[in-house]
Amino acid sequence: MRALDYLGILSLLLALPTTHSLKAHDFKTCSQSGFCRRGRALSARAKEAGAAWKSPYSVDPSSIAIASDQATFTASVKSSLYPEINFGLELRVHDDGVVRVRMDEVAGLRKRYDEAASWALIAEPTVSKDIKWTAGKKDIRAVYGKKKELELVVTYEPLRVALLRNGKEQVVLNGQGLLHMEHFRTKTPAVTQTEEPAPKEGEEVVADEAQAVMKAENPRAWFEGDKEDDYWEETFGSWTDSKPKGPESLSIDINFPNHGTVYGIPQHATRLALPTTTGESPFFSDPYRLYNADVFEYLASSPMSIYGSIPVLHAHSADSTVGMFHAVGSETWIDVGHASDKSTETHWISESGILDLFLMPGPTPEDIFRQYSRLTGTTVIPAHWSLGYHQCRWNYVSSDDVRTVQKRFDEEDMPVDVFWLDIEYAEEHKYFIWDKKNFPDPVDMINDVAALGRKMVVIIDPHLKRTSDYPVYQKASELGLLVKTKSESEYEGWCWSGSSAWIDFFNPSVWDWWKTLFKPRQLASGWSWTESTEDVHIWNDMNEPSVFNGPEITMPKDNIHYGGWEHRDVHNINGMLFSNLTSQAVAERSDTPKRPFVLTRAFYAGSQRFGAMWTGDNMGTWEHMAVGVKIVLSVNIGGMSFAGSDVGGFFGNPEPEMLVRWYQVGAFAPFFRAHAHIDTKRREPFLLDQPYKGIIRDVLRLRYTMLPIWYTAFRETSVTGLPVLRPHYVMFPKDQGGFNIDDQYFIGSSGLLVKPVTEKGATQATVYLPEDQVYYDYFNHFAYRGAAKGKEITVPAVLHQIPLFVRGGSIVPTRERPRRSSKAMKRDPFTLRVALSKAGTARGELYLDDGETYAHRQGQFVWREIVAEKPAKKARTLKIESRDLGAARPAEAVDGAVLKTFDPENEYAKSIADVRVEKVVVAGLSGKPTSVKVEGGDELVWDFTPGVAAADKKEGIASVLAVKDPKVLIAKDWAIIIEW
Ligand SMILES: *[C@@H]1O[C@H](CO)[C@@H](O)[C@H](O)[C@H]1NC(C)=O
Repeated sequence: MRALDYLGILSLLLALPTTHSLKAHDFKTCSQSGFCRRGRALSARAKEAGAAWKSPYSVDPSSIAIASDQATFTASVKSSLYPEINFGLELRVHDDGVVRVRMDEVAGLRKRYDEAASWALIAEPTVSKDIKWTAGKKDIRAVYGKKKELELVVTYEPLRVALLRNGKEQVVLNGQGLLHMEHFRTKTPAVTQTEEPAPKEGEEVVADEAQAVMKAENPRAWFEGDKEDDYWEETFGSWTDSKPKGPESLSIDINFPNHGTVYGIPQHATRLALPTTTGESPFFSDPYRLYNADVFEYLASSPMSIYGSIPVLHAHSADSTVGMFHAVGSETWIDVGHASDKSTETHWISESGILDLFLMPGPTPEDIFRQYSRLTGTTVIPAHWSLGYHQCRWNYVSSDDVRTVQKRFDEEDMPVDVFWLDIEYAEEHKYFIWDKKNFPDPVDMINDVAALGRKMVVIIDPHLKRTSDYPVYQKASELGLLVKTKSESEYEGWCWSGSSAWIDFFNPSVWDWWKTLFKPRQLASGWSWTESTEDVHIWNDMNEPSVFNGPEITMPKDNIHYGGWEHRDVHNINGMLFSNLTSQAVAERSDTPKRPFVLTRAFYAGSQRFGAMWTGDNMGTWEHMAVGVKIVLSVNIGGMSFAGSDVGGFFGNPEPEMLVRWYQVGAFAPFFRAHAHIDTKRREPFLLDQPYKGIIRDVLRLRYTMLPIWYTAFRETSVTGLPVLRPHYVMFPKDQGGFNIDDQYFIGSSGLLVKPVTEKGATQATVYLPEDQVYYDYFNHFAYRGAAKGKEITVPAVLHQIPLFVRGGSIVPTRERPRRSSKAMKRDPFTLRVALSKAGTARGELYLDDGETYAHRQGQFVWREIVAEKPAKKARTLKIESRDLGAARPAEAVDGAVLKTFDPENEYAKSIADVRVEKVVVAGLSGKPTSVKVEGGDELVWDFTPGVAAADKKEGIASVLAVKDPKVLIAKDWAIIIEW
């Protein structure tokens, strides 16, 4: 939630500057940020100097030391501008080909922040065993990879790092000479600045000569500029950042000479393929900013920061994809430009921290996801219920309100799994403490919800009300666990709870203490949340952190965290630690650990390990609905698969048509929650008139029928790191026509392609088919035929219609009985939808486990492969076979656990031993069957509707065979033979 209303009141009460309105101008542009301005000025000078520009940084060849592991070398680096300053460079190659490049100032006046990677990475990566560095006169290089296709070249003077594949440069560091690590220095009296003499009229200025003169006369000014621009202090609005450490920014150009499209660096409200910020006519005038911020009513198209930051980029071309991750936690700005349509140049400007880059060689997007998740981990398999529908509002105002809303869902036969409570449940916004006036019986309320198989999610924010009657604050203050000001006193700021303090999650003493708070039983050692149960899960909001009266609505950068680090060093990482510890606390509160659900607003690289995110306080507009889809795709690129946007938009009162469309968007996002601002009218789906109410009920039910598909997709992401939502470039990396598509996407490996409608008044939609394959309309089996070079089709999309397709060659498992919650579906039978490819075959997967505990890590799961094959190409026989995959692919067991053996007869499998397949639907058979049998059994009951072929015989309603109750079991091997 956002602070607008609150601030209005607050500014009156506290005489805060009344000019303070929460709009774009509350956040810095690059030109208002000292280090960003310096970084951009550096690149402007480089551009002006042209060929004369030369990076002052070089490697001292005599310093090169190859480590005993052979995969790593270190060297010292000097800048010709500051020969007395030492920098150290370290390069190492990991066993999967990822290259880590680190550079730091050595024995400087102070230490640069070097811990970002320690929070982001799951473990210290293992280094490659087949690297051999060859140090020559001009460079040091290594050739590696299975076919020796990769080459790493580090040139000494100037320092330049290039990763090549088959002789082609994939990624180049400092190729433009924008590397600049501002060293620590002592403050000196201001230097008098020399004005550049203006060229006299008529005087010919030879650019190269002028450059040469300038460079010779004052090389530092030539490179760095001639003034100390905001080195020691910076003001923004009424705030002053004291910058006690002085300048320490880091600039580096990272270029992709053979890749014309880039994706990633979430979170920004923009297209998936990142528009330019430099060049002749940049799309955005500012660089992309990564600085977690609580941006009120964020713009629907902007490079501004919003709530989370993942410094990960994919650079893509039809030939190959290459990725990079910069482990930096401070504010970072990134310029993106294209010198040609085949290349991309990016310029990264960070306020502090070391250079710690991971170059991921690809060569496919899938490889990059694997490489990145080996570094930062995967999205864990969520609790099954959390893939259902979540009903939220600021606020359900009392326990009876919650009960009534639940009752209304049930009366209208609308499935829902979770009811949420925003901040008003807490007395004076003291989180954990119920407001007993309105929630007199919290545990009874929770139990009433749980009795119908549902859960509750309750908000816990990182700001603590500073009051003596709040045990959480009292203890944190007493133990010294709170963030401090630059003068080492407890930092106080304003947030929902009024005067507040912030827990410092960087402090290891916080970690165990925070977990004790969530124990739903009395502890001897202190306060714990006894008025809660295991059915309550957590929403971590405001963790950028949001501070209403702070600079840019966050904490002053000179605040101090554990270890003496400034807030500026760790700002973007801060929110991740909060959701990390909260998810651990929720998992560990019970004796048998259960999968936690924690929703976070702020995030960083690695946050995928701790739960879900949502796109924050969006607006109830069509633009926000559309850009929400793109943001969710882009955070999926950043590894955070469990993502969604507030259905309906947080602000505003969406008209019924918009609300229906928004539910259709939400039902196809991994995280599906409706939410609304306190000033909006109630808009629970049961309040709508017909036909809207009925359409939304169908959408909710559709989501529930597809839970097996979502759950299976999450299993896959938990193992491979491949995102749950897959845009075209990930699915079809060679298909140029799909590179810019970000309004339709695939769900996992299921073969489902969806294009949510985000336009008012739409009656049809244009859908891109990327290949020469059949795509079946999910609802009516109309078969569309794509083309090898890609093809657009137009499909009907009036209000109740969602353009949803099954790619030919897929088998999709669903559960089609309407239920009130996902828990009620646990033993429901399955439907298998077989969508035959143009070759007449198909394949699909289904993953199931108890959905709640960690028993799956011990092999308690069912993982099936269903395959439809023909004995020969022209045969008029189709065999649909269900096989066990757990035993077939034991090394790919779930959640990182490597199972040596897998027992298909495990306890979980036994618990669903009698769960049937109740229907098999086969689309696209080329003739009417003469027989449909379970292998070795009797003729089954079936029904065949012949196809209606269009004139070209490729398109039209496909034939549909519906096999009713084939009497086969979902967890068992079986085969159905169809002959025609
Ligand atoms: C966060 O989570 C990881 C597990 O993914 C754990 O190893 C780490 O120690 C946690 N704690 C903090 C404070 O980041």
